[in-house]
Amino acid sequence: MSAVSLFLFSTLAVLFACVSSINLRIDEQEERECYGTTVGFGYSGTLEFHYQHLRKRYAGCTYIHGNLEVTNLVDPKLNYDLSFLKTIRYVSGYVLIGLITEVERIPLNSLEVIRGNNTYSIMGDDYSLVVVLTSRSEEDSSGVKHITGLKEIHLPQLKELSAGKVLFTGNPSLGYINTVDWEPIVRGRWDAVHFQEHAYNDSVAHNNDTSICDGGTRWGDDRTLCQQVIKSTTCHETCDGRCFGPGSDECCHSSCAVGCDGPEDEQCFVCKDYLYETHCVGFCPARAYPKLQKCVQY
Ligand SMILES: *[C@@H]1O[C@H](CO)[C@@H](O)[C@H](O)[C@H]1NC(C)=O
Ligand SMILES: *[C@@H]1O[C@H](CO)[C@@H](O)[C@H](O)[C@H]1NC(C)=O
Ligand SMILES: *[C@@H]1O[C@H](CO)[C@@H](O)[C@H](O)[C@H]1NC(C)=O
Repeated sequence: MSAVSLFLFSTLAVLFACVSSINLRIDEQEERECYGTTVGFGYSGTLEFHYQHLRKRYAGCTYIHGNLEVTNLVDPKLNYDLSFLKTIRYVSGYVLIGLITEVERIPLNSLEVIRGNNTYSIMGDDYSLVVVLTSRSEEDSSGVKHITGLKEIHLPQLKELSAGKVLFTGNPSLGYINTVDWEPIVRGRWDAVHFQEHAYNDSVAHNNDTSICDGGTRWGDDRTLCQQVIKSTTCHETCDGRCFGPGSDECCHSSCAVGCDGPEDEQCFVCKDYLYETHCVGFCPARAYPKLQKCVQY
């Protein structure tokens, strides 16, 4: 081999090694499991430490094992950037958003399933989606009070809240909550959505404005924020939520989330818990451990 071709060969080898290690890293980023928290409205250290800690915990995560708690973003001197929430697709516990006054938008654009395996209990009810206390009032130089705070929460992909209820209260600036169709999300659990005092600002938007999204259902005035709904018929009363037709024999299997195209646990659109071989299961069997949403055999 001449010196030149040897040089070329080794350069190519190095290049190839770089490319494959980059690919590996991208693959890892595509699916990443992270652990949530159970502190509720608590936090430790300073507000800045708390925020940096949140960023580190959730950066690049797609699957949250446990609860997603995003709270205490209240320091006007910090420049909050919550774009790290955009990759999350699944939360096995509950989602708690509260005490957030310095952020206008919460970008949970990919979140599809809130499993609600753990719920957050307040006022005698068990919730799996809680959005509370997101504003503060400010006095301007002439003494006039202005309310500022969270304006939008982006959950366009949210298709399933498998267990637990929804609570909104203390969000006087938050818009578009009345332009969401909650029924396909909580499916058949009529009393599951609780709007209490100042749940949202109902003068921001109405769902009779269909210029952006079909039916007007949306989480904000942008095409990417239209509510994604899987069309389905009214289910038979014996179905526990989801079905693929109106008959009593057309219910989805109880391990399915979102929907299905047949009655078996192999026909779910998404598994509520884990995928084992081709079946959705509630827990992994012997000699398999859960990783992401799959049971891995050993
Ligand atoms: C509610 O929305 C309306 C219309 O966008 C706005 O004028 C008003 O200031 C909002 N209220 C609060 C408390 O943010
Ligand atoms: C849409 O509905 C709201 C209240 O439901 C109403 O105030 C508003 O005038 C309606 N807009 C149109 C264009 O019909
Ligand atoms: C649900 O929660 C229980 C108790 O907290 C736990 O033992 C179980 O592994 C959880 N299941 C899933 C699918 O996360």
